[in-house]
Amino acid sequence: MAEIVVALDTSTAADALRLLDRLPGVNWVKVGPVVFLDGGPALVRELKARGHKVFLDMKWHDIPRTVAGAVEAAARLGVDLATVHALGGEAMLRAAREAARGRLRLAAVSVLTSHDEESYGAAVGAGEVRDLRAEVERLAGIAARAGLDAVVCSASEVDLVRRVMGSGSWFVVPGIRLGGSGREDHARSAEPRRAVEAGATHLVIGRPIIEAPDPLSVYQRVCRELL
Ligand code: C5P
Repeated sequence: MAEIVVALDTSTAADALRLLDRLPGVNWVKVGPVVFLDGGPALVRELKARGHKVFLDMKWHDIPRTVAGAVEAAARLGVDLATVHALGGEAMLRAAREAARGRLRLAAVSVLTSHDEESYGAAVGAGEVRDLRAEVERLAGIAARAGLDAVVCSASEVDLVRRVMGSGSWFVVPGIRLGGSGREDHARSAEPRRAVEAGATHLVIGRPIIEAPDPLSVYQRVCRELL
Protein backbone atom coordinates (compact mmCIF):
# COMPACT_ATOMS: atom_id res chain seq x y z
CA MET A 1 0.00 0.00 0.00
CA ALA A 2 1.16 3.56 -0.68
CA GLU A 3 2.37 5.57 2.30
CA ILE A 4 0.48 8.63 3.47
CA VAL A 5 2.86 11.43 4.44
CA VAL A 6 1.27 14.06 6.66
CA ALA A 7 2.79 17.47 5.92
CA LEU A 8 3.40 19.21 9.25
CA ASP A 9 2.75 22.65 7.77
CA THR A 10 2.06 24.35 11.10
CA SER A 11 3.73 27.57 12.26
CA THR A 12 5.27 26.05 15.37
CA ALA A 13 6.77 22.73 16.41
CA ALA A 14 4.45 22.65 19.41
CA ASP A 15 1.44 22.84 17.08
CA ALA A 16 2.89 20.05 14.93
CA LEU A 17 3.36 17.77 17.95
CA ARG A 18 -0.12 18.59 19.26
CA LEU A 19 -1.53 17.74 15.84
CA LEU A 20 0.27 14.38 15.90
CA ASP A 21 -1.12 13.66 19.37
CA ARG A 22 -4.52 13.73 17.63
CA LEU A 23 -3.35 11.47 14.78
CA PRO A 24 -2.47 8.04 16.19
CA GLY A 25 -1.31 5.64 13.50
CA VAL A 26 0.50 8.18 11.34
CA ASN A 27 3.87 6.80 10.26
CA TRP A 28 5.41 9.28 7.76
CA VAL A 29 5.54 13.00 8.52
CA LYS A 30 6.94 15.83 6.41
CA VAL A 31 8.92 18.64 7.99
CA GLY A 32 9.20 21.75 5.82
CA PRO A 33 11.17 24.97 6.29
CA VAL A 34 8.52 26.80 8.32
CA VAL A 35 8.16 24.30 11.14
CA PHE A 36 11.87 23.40 10.98
CA LEU A 37 12.84 27.03 11.53
CA ASP A 38 10.73 26.96 14.68
CA GLY A 39 11.56 23.51 16.03
CA GLY A 40 14.98 22.88 14.50
CA PRO A 41 16.84 19.58 14.84
CA ALA A 42 15.14 19.01 18.21
CA LEU A 43 11.81 18.64 16.42
CA VAL A 44 13.25 15.99 14.09
CA ARG A 45 14.78 14.14 17.07
CA GLU A 46 11.43 14.23 18.88
CA LEU A 47 9.60 12.90 15.81
CA LYS A 48 12.14 10.08 15.49
CA ALA A 49 11.82 9.31 19.21
CA ARG A 50 8.06 9.03 18.70
CA GLY A 51 8.72 6.44 15.99
CA HIS A 52 7.92 8.49 12.88
CA LYS A 53 9.61 8.30 9.51
CA VAL A 54 10.79 11.84 8.78
CA PHE A 55 10.69 13.44 5.34
CA LEU A 56 12.73 16.65 5.57
CA ASP A 57 11.45 18.77 2.71
CA MET A 58 13.87 21.69 2.39
CA LYS A 59 14.14 21.42 -1.42
CA TRP A 60 17.86 22.16 -1.48
CA HIS A 61 19.24 23.95 -4.55
CA ASP A 62 22.76 25.29 -3.97
CA ILE A 63 26.37 24.60 -4.94
CA PRO A 64 27.17 20.85 -4.71
CA ARG A 65 29.41 21.20 -1.65
CA THR A 66 26.74 23.01 0.38
CA VAL A 67 24.01 20.55 -0.59
CA ALA A 68 26.32 17.63 0.28
CA GLY A 69 26.91 19.20 3.71
CA ALA A 70 23.18 19.58 4.28
CA VAL A 71 22.58 15.94 3.31
CA GLU A 72 25.33 14.82 5.70
CA ALA A 73 23.70 16.81 8.53
CA ALA A 74 20.28 15.35 7.70
CA ALA A 75 21.73 11.83 7.74
CA ARG A 76 23.27 12.43 11.18
CA LEU A 77 19.88 13.64 12.42
CA GLY A 78 18.22 10.39 11.33
CA VAL A 79 16.14 11.87 8.49
CA ASP A 80 14.65 9.15 6.26
CA LEU A 81 13.95 11.14 3.09
CA ALA A 82 15.00 14.61 1.92
CA THR A 83 14.44 16.72 -1.18
CA VAL A 84 16.78 18.43 -3.62
CA HIS A 85 15.75 20.41 -6.70
CA ALA A 86 16.49 18.58 -9.96
CA LEU A 87 17.04 22.05 -11.43
CA GLY A 88 20.23 22.18 -9.31
CA GLY A 89 21.74 19.92 -11.98
CA GLU A 90 23.44 16.56 -12.17
CA ALA A 91 26.64 17.50 -10.30
CA MET A 92 24.60 18.80 -7.36
CA LEU A 93 22.39 15.70 -7.27
CA ARG A 94 25.40 13.42 -7.51
CA ALA A 95 27.12 15.24 -4.63
CA ALA A 96 23.93 14.84 -2.59
CA ARG A 97 23.73 11.12 -3.33
CA GLU A 98 27.38 10.56 -2.47
CA ALA A 99 26.93 12.42 0.83
CA ALA A 100 23.87 10.29 1.69
CA ARG A 101 25.89 7.05 1.43
CA GLY A 102 22.66 5.07 1.59
CA ARG A 103 21.73 6.41 5.04
CA LEU A 104 18.71 8.33 3.75
CA ARG A 105 16.79 8.49 0.50
CA LEU A 106 16.84 11.54 -1.71
CA ALA A 107 13.96 12.72 -3.84
CA ALA A 108 14.45 15.11 -6.74
CA VAL A 109 11.78 17.79 -7.00
CA SER A 110 10.72 18.06 -10.63
CA VAL A 111 8.23 20.81 -11.44
CA LEU A 112 6.39 22.23 -8.43
CA THR A 113 2.70 21.39 -8.66
CA SER A 114 1.89 25.08 -8.16
CA HIS A 115 3.29 25.79 -11.67
CA ASP A 116 1.48 25.80 -14.97
CA GLU A 117 3.18 26.18 -18.38
CA GLU A 118 3.11 29.94 -18.25
CA SER A 119 4.48 30.41 -14.73
CA TYR A 120 7.18 27.74 -15.19
CA GLY A 121 8.28 29.19 -18.55
CA ALA A 122 8.51 32.65 -17.00
CA ALA A 123 10.54 31.33 -14.03
CA VAL A 124 13.15 29.45 -16.06
CA GLY A 125 13.33 32.09 -18.79
CA ALA A 126 12.26 29.67 -21.49
CA GLY A 127 9.47 31.97 -22.58
CA GLU A 128 7.00 29.44 -23.76
CA VAL A 129 7.03 25.98 -22.17
CA ARG A 130 4.42 24.08 -24.14
CA ASP A 131 4.51 20.83 -22.25
CA LEU A 132 5.30 20.54 -18.55
CA ARG A 133 5.29 16.75 -18.86
CA ALA A 134 8.29 16.93 -21.17
CA GLU A 135 10.02 19.16 -18.64
CA VAL A 136 9.24 16.72 -15.81
CA GLU A 137 10.61 13.87 -17.96
CA ARG A 138 13.81 15.86 -18.66
CA LEU A 139 14.32 16.62 -14.94
CA ALA A 140 13.63 12.99 -13.99
CA GLY A 141 16.37 12.03 -16.48
CA ILE A 142 18.84 14.18 -14.55
CA ALA A 143 17.73 12.52 -11.28
CA ALA A 144 18.10 9.05 -12.81
CA ARG A 145 21.60 9.78 -14.17
CA ALA A 146 22.65 11.02 -10.73
CA GLY A 147 21.32 7.80 -9.16
CA LEU A 148 18.64 9.36 -6.94
CA ASP A 149 16.06 7.20 -5.19
CA ALA A 150 12.87 9.15 -5.78
CA VAL A 151 11.16 11.97 -7.64
CA VAL A 152 8.51 14.40 -6.45
CA CYS A 153 5.96 14.92 -9.20
CA SER A 154 2.23 15.28 -9.72
CA ALA A 155 -0.02 12.23 -10.09
CA SER A 156 -0.42 12.82 -13.81
CA GLU A 157 3.34 12.56 -14.32
CA VAL A 158 4.13 9.36 -12.38
CA ASP A 159 3.85 7.18 -15.49
CA LEU A 160 6.45 9.27 -17.33
CA VAL A 161 8.78 9.47 -14.34
CA ARG A 162 8.55 5.72 -13.71
CA ARG A 163 9.67 5.03 -17.27
CA VAL A 164 12.75 7.18 -16.66
CA MET A 165 13.56 6.18 -13.06
CA GLY A 166 12.51 2.51 -13.13
CA SER A 167 9.84 0.85 -11.02
CA GLY A 168 12.05 0.44 -7.92
CA SER A 169 12.03 4.19 -7.27
CA TRP A 170 9.73 6.11 -4.99
CA PHE A 171 7.20 8.45 -6.58
CA VAL A 172 6.27 11.12 -4.09
CA VAL A 173 3.08 12.93 -5.00
CA PRO A 174 1.86 16.13 -3.35
CA GLY A 175 -1.15 18.16 -4.42
CA ILE A 176 -3.59 15.59 -3.09
CA ARG A 177 -7.15 16.80 -2.77
CA LEU A 178 -10.13 14.95 -1.37
CA GLY A 179 -13.45 14.75 -3.15
CA GLY A 180 -15.26 18.06 -2.90
CA SER A 181 -12.37 20.04 -1.39
CA GLY A 182 -10.85 23.12 -3.04
CA ARG A 183 -7.74 22.87 -5.24
CA GLU A 184 -6.16 25.89 -3.55
CA ASP A 185 -2.76 26.65 -5.13
CA HIS A 186 -2.06 23.33 -6.87
CA ALA A 187 -2.48 23.59 -10.62
CA ARG A 188 -2.10 19.80 -10.98
CA SER A 189 -3.94 18.01 -8.15
CA ALA A 190 -5.42 14.51 -7.78
CA GLU A 191 -7.58 12.51 -5.38
CA PRO A 192 -5.75 9.84 -3.29
CA ARG A 193 -7.11 6.78 -5.10
CA ARG A 194 -6.25 8.23 -8.51
CA ALA A 195 -2.72 9.13 -7.40
CA VAL A 196 -2.11 5.56 -6.20
CA GLU A 197 -3.59 4.07 -9.36
CA ALA A 198 -1.20 6.30 -11.28
CA GLY A 199 1.69 4.68 -9.37
CA ALA A 200 2.40 7.06 -6.47
CA THR A 201 4.26 5.31 -3.63
CA HIS A 202 4.00 8.25 -1.17
CA LEU A 203 1.10 10.72 -0.99
CA VAL A 204 1.94 14.04 0.65
CA ILE A 205 -1.14 15.51 2.29
CA GLY A 206 -1.15 18.76 4.24
CA ARG A 207 -4.10 21.09 4.42
CA PRO A 208 -6.87 18.56 3.70
CA ILE A 209 -5.83 16.79 6.94
CA ILE A 210 -4.24 19.42 9.15
CA GLU A 211 -6.85 22.10 8.58
CA ALA A 212 -9.81 19.75 8.98
CA PRO A 213 -11.97 20.19 12.07
CA ASP A 214 -11.39 16.48 12.73
CA PRO A 215 -7.96 15.58 11.24
CA LEU A 216 -8.14 11.95 12.42
CA SER A 217 -11.37 11.20 10.59
CA VAL A 218 -9.96 12.67 7.34
CA TYR A 219 -6.71 10.70 7.77
CA GLN A 220 -8.67 7.49 8.40
CA ARG A 221 -10.90 8.18 5.39
CA VAL A 222 -7.82 8.48 3.16
CA CYS A 223 -6.42 5.22 4.62
CA ARG A 224 -9.72 3.47 3.84
CA GLU A 225 -9.74 4.87 0.29
CA LEU A 226 -6.33 3.33 -0.30
CA LEU A 227 -7.16 -0.19 0.94
O1 C5P B 1 -1.47 21.47 2.01
P1 C5P B 1 -1.05 20.61 0.86
O2 C5P B 1 -1.66 19.24 0.84
O3 C5P B 1 -1.16 21.34 -0.45
O4 C5P B 1 0.49 20.38 1.15
C1 C5P B 1 1.32 20.13 0.16
C2 C5P B 1 2.69 19.98 0.71
O5 C5P B 1 3.46 19.46 -0.35
C3 C5P B 1 3.35 21.30 1.14
O6 C5P B 1 4.11 21.06 2.30
C4 C5P B 1 4.27 21.65 -0.03
O7 C5P B 1 5.48 22.23 0.38
C5 C5P B 1 4.54 20.28 -0.63
N1 C5P B 1 4.75 20.29 -2.07
C6 C5P B 1 5.84 19.60 -2.55
N2 C5P B 1 6.10 19.54 -3.87
C7 C5P B 1 5.32 20.10 -4.75
C8 C5P B 1 4.17 20.79 -4.28
C9 C5P B 1 3.92 20.86 -2.92
O8 C5P B 1 6.59 19.03 -1.77
N3 C5P B 1 5.62 19.95 -6.03
